[in-house]
Amino acid sequence: MSDLTFNKIAGGVLLTGLVIFGLREVSTIVFDKPAPEKAGYEIAVEESTEGGAAAVEVAPDWGTALLLPANIAAGQAVAAKCAACHKVDAGGANGVGPGLWGVVGRQPGVHGGFAYSAAMKEFGAKNPVWDYDHLDGFLKAPGKYVSGTNMTFVGIKKPEDRVALIAYLHSLGSTLPVPAPKPAEAAAPAAAEGAPATAEEAGAAAAGAPVSPSEAPAAQ
Ligand code: HEC
Repeated sequence: MSDLTFNKIAGGVLLTGLVIFGLREVSTIVFDKPAPEKAGYEIAVEESTEGGAAAVEVAPDWGTALLLPANIAAGQAVAAKCAACHKVDAGGANGVGPGLWGVVGRQPGVHGGFAYSAAMKEFGAKNPVWDYDHLDGFLKAPGKYVSGTNMTFVGIKKPEDRVALIAYLHSLGSTLPVPAPKPAEAAAPAAAEGAPATAEEAGAAAAGAPVSPSEAPAAQ
C-alpha cells in the first residue's frame, strides 16, 4: 500500500467520522426537544360539560332561542337521532314512540293511539304540559327525568343541541307561547370578559409604539 493510498483511506475515514459527528450535532439542534416539566405522559383532559360545569349551566333563554331559524335548522339535524322511533308528520302517526307533531305544549302521555308506560302517564298527570324546561330535562336524560319510561334513549348531552332540538320541535305545530326574551343582563359578563382582552391589546400596541420612534433616529 503506497503512502498515497493510505492517506486517501485515512482521509476517507476521518471525513466519514466528521460527517457522522456533524449530523448528530445538527440533528440535536434541529430536533432539540425541551425536557417536559413533569415526567410521564401528558394527557390532555377535555373539560366536561357535565359535572362541575353543570353547576353554572344557565337556563336557556327560550324567548330568544326558540324562534331562531338557525336553531330550528340545527335541531332538525339533531332530530335524526329520534327518527328511528318518532314520526313528526302533522297527521300525528305513532311509531315505536308517539308522534311528535305538536308535542311541545301537549300533555305528556296522552297522544291518541299510543300505549304509554305507566311512568309517562303518571308524569303527565303531575305535569300537564310538555313545556320547554320539562322537554329539556327529559331529553337530557329520559330515564332519569321520567324514571321508568319506555323511551330507551340515552339522552342529548350538549345543552345547545337540546335547545336547537326543542326549537325544531316547537316549529312542528306547537301553540305553546314563546316566553319573552330575557333582559340583556346575561350579555353583560360576556362583554366585561371581552374588555380586558381589548385593553391588553391596546396596551401591547401602546408598548410597541415608542419602539419605532427611538429606532428611527438610531437608523439615521
Ligand atoms: C328507541 C326509540 C326512541 C328514540 C330513539 C327516541 N324516543 Fe322518544 N319516545 C320513545 C317511546 C317508546 C316513548 C314513550 C315513552 C313512555 O311511554 O314512557 C317516547 C316518548 C317521547 C316523548 C313524550 C311524548 C308524549 O306524548 O308524551 C317525547 C317528547 C320524545 N319521546 C321525544 C324524543 C326525541 C326528541 C327524541 C330524539 C332526540 C326521541 N324521543 C328519541 C321512543 C324513542
